[in-house]
Amino acid sequence: MKNILVTGGAGFIGSHTCLVLLEAGYNLIVFDSLINSSSKSLSRVLELSGINDFGERLSLVKGDIRNFSLLQDVFKNSKEKGMPIDAVIHFAGLKSVSESITEPLKYWDVNVNGTRILLDIMQDHDCYTLVFSSSATIYGSSQQMPISESADIKPINPYGTSKASVEQMLSDAFYSNLYPLKVACLRYFNPVGAHPSGLIGEDPLGIPDNLFPFVSQVAIGRESLLRIFGADWNTPDGTPIRDYIHVMDLAEGHLCALNYLEKNQPQIFKVNLGTGRGYSVFEVINAFEVATDKKIPYEIVDRRKGDVAVNYADISLAKREMNWYAKRTLNSSCIDGWRWQLSNPNGYK
Ligand code: NAD
Ligand code: WQD
Repeated sequence: MKNILVTGGAGFIGSHTCLVLLEAGYNLIVFDSLINSSSKSLSRVLELSGINDFGERLSLVKGDIRNFSLLQDVFKNSKEKGMPIDAVIHFAGLKSVSESITEPLKYWDVNVNGTRILLDIMQDHDCYTLVFSSSATIYGSSQQMPISESADIKPINPYGTSKASVEQMLSDAFYSNLYPLKVACLRYFNPVGAHPSGLIGEDPLGIPDNLFPFVSQVAIGRESLLRIFGADWNTPDGTPIRDYIHVMDLAEGHLCALNYLEKNQPQIFKVNLGTGRGYSVFEVINAFEVATDKKIPYEIVDRRKGDVAVNYADISLAKREMNWYAKRTLNSSCIDGWRWQLSNPNGYK
């Protein structure tokens, strides 16, 4: 396997993964509508990999994954150039829980229908290896901790439903036995941090929904204070616990998934990517304050609809099958995330 199509590769997790893949020797075509990202992330990825220009080992096609003919052309052109696409890493999609509640059909269309179109085209071109960005959100409010891959799939919002539906669609396609599909569904927990260079990182549009970018924007002065959504949860300090994983660990998980699929028989492999360790909101604030020497003012407000008390991964399957585990700490996520924020106070703008 040499040539990889990376849908959504200009985004937060995609750009970090592109860097890891280039360093591992792959050639990449990024297909991204840039609806939630900037091509600057990829220019920075090139800079970090010591590659002079777009087109050399990384090219960018701006387009929507629902655009059948454009995506079809990408596969055709690659074949004609003697560089057929061997595998796809599929990041492209929408990821806001709150938006999915107000605009559910958009999530069905982009996340579910978009993946169906991609899968159709892959099969047309005899490309059977796919790494899909799933999410721990599909477990909903699971009571078993740590959550293993065998836990019930019970999403509690349309975003989660869209990810669970794609997993189901991929399973159905695999079990049809019509194609020798090799699929990895990577169930990410809470991706945070940035590349240690400070050149690439997370650049949310508008006011961030997620804890890490919000804390970071308070520290840089773009937001005045953090609102903590409830301190009356059934946890040791009353705030919810999550499994925060450094984005570079996550990026490396994609390389391990590709290696795993390459070495193994056709299958559908569903695996958690987390650290296996949970931290509360107060612990995150404290870690951030220690790492950055900044005070994070906060107030405690009502619980946010749809939140759960505790969520962290059982990581044994990833370790056993892919020899992957998270190596970086919460402290390095804070240091690296803050370096990115400090050097790019307005993101890529
Ligand atoms: P992101 O928004 O930074 O990246 C997604 C990329 O997809 C963006 O570059 C965006 O422009 C592109 N895109 C969106 N819709 C598109 C379309 N219709 N056609 C082509 N490109 C399109 O998000 P991210 O945090 O890097 O997440 C990547 C993937 O991982 C997503 O599928 C997301 O659902 C999933 N995920 C993210 C998290 C998280 O907390 N960040 C957690 C679990 C799963
Ligand atoms: C973490 C904790 C909040 C913001 C979300 C998606 C999930 C996945 C990852 C894509 C919670 C608290 C947050 C704030 C706060 N994404 N918080 N004040 O909710 O675990 O997961 O991102 O797949 O689908 O739901 O992450 O970072 O939003 O919240 O108190 O301003 O921080 O209540 O306890 P979450 P998060």
